[in-house]
Amino acid sequence: MKFETKAIWVGQAADLTTGATIVPIYQTSTFAQEEVNKNKGYEYSRVGNPTRTALDSCLASLEEGNYGLSFSSGLAAEHSVLSLLRPGDHVIVPEDMYGGTYRLIKEILEPLNINFTFTDFTDLNAVRNAFLPSTKLIWIETPTNPLLKIFDIEAISKLCLERSTLVVVDNTFATPYFQKPLLLGADIVVHSTTKYINGHSDVIGGAVIMNNKELFDKIHLIQKSVGAVPSPFDSWLTLRGVKTLAVRMRQHEANSFQVARFLEKQPNVLKVFYPGLKTHQGYEIAEKQMTGFGGIVSFQIRGGLAECNIFFKKLKIFQLAESLGGVESLANYSALMTHGAFPPELRQKIGVSENLIRLSVGIEHIDDLLSDLENALNR
Ligand SMILES: Cc1ncc(COP(=O)(O)O)c(C=O)c1O
Repeated sequence: MKFETKAIWVGQAADLTTGATIVPIYQTSTFAQEEVNKNKGYEYSRVGNPTRTALDSCLASLEEGNYGLSFSSGLAAEHSVLSLLRPGDHVIVPEDMYGGTYRLIKEILEPLNINFTFTDFTDLNAVRNAFLPSTKLIWIETPTNPLLKIFDIEAISKLCLERSTLVVVDNTFATPYFQKPLLLGADIVVHSTTKYINGHSDVIGGAVIMNNKELFDKIHLIQKSVGAVPSPFDSWLTLRGVKTLAVRMRQHEANSFQVARFLEKQPNVLKVFYPGLKTHQGYEIAEKQMTGFGGIVSFQIRGGLAECNIFFKKLKIFQLAESLGGVESLANYSALMTHGAFPPELRQKIGVSENLIRLSVGIEHIDDLLSDLENALNR
């Protein structure tokens, strides 16, 4: 079955009792049992719920994985994966990542004596040199938020295979439509389904997908013990959203290419970051490991915070907001919004500068988007 068909049908066969073509919202906390330890596969909705099962199966199939688990947020999904670690374990992470992941590491995990080395994943030697005997896991996000840096999933997975280290890829930006990390050697994929997978900016959610049954059992145990599960309604909304992932991603990408090329020509724009541009740092790896370049374009405006604010105020269609990946276009000031948790020196080092603007290019008509940007950039 092809991607578009799986998004609509996997886990979503017509309801056996009523014939409903759409998976029902099983808004129930518990399930009647026939006798002790005999039930229809469900006992309590923290452990499992049929609407959530439909979403879990669909997401697993889109990522070409055997098992999927949906969560109440992307960070809850990340936290469950990182709860596999024990005090004294060591993890290698990129310097460049979503600010919330950085906060999770700094505020929650490092105080538990889990050790992290931040390194530049565009340099494989730097990654090689960061390994310690206690290294248990490598965490990458590619393309990264907000600079769209690209890391070579296959090469990193090979390094880890030699050392039995788990590779986790946050695939939120690319989505399984454009990138399938499990096929490139990763062990676990995580998502903020809040973003493209749901795609309509009306749900906070997350997911973890993997092939290994032992890993699945461990993460499911963490999920049921900690309880970070999505509601049946949120699972249903996400399932409705994911049905159109392929068509949305194609349009996000087509619009993003035009936005990136347009921005490159603007006198008030200093630099444009989009993995589909041949000038981009990771263009060649992106072309090798992705089937499309996604819907996020970042750029440096001529000026600083004041000029960014003028730009944001003049926008009429793009909204200044956190988040990304919805059908509507958004603009973000990464230094003080998504990356506010980073210390200023680290922000400076990785390039989240005071003049950096991240655009989540929506699927509105491209003419309207370009004229909105043109008007806002014009001083
Ligand atoms: C790449 C990436 N991963 C994870 C998250 C966290 O997801 P959530 O906000 O659903 O907890 C985000 C949120 O912006 C993100 O951009």
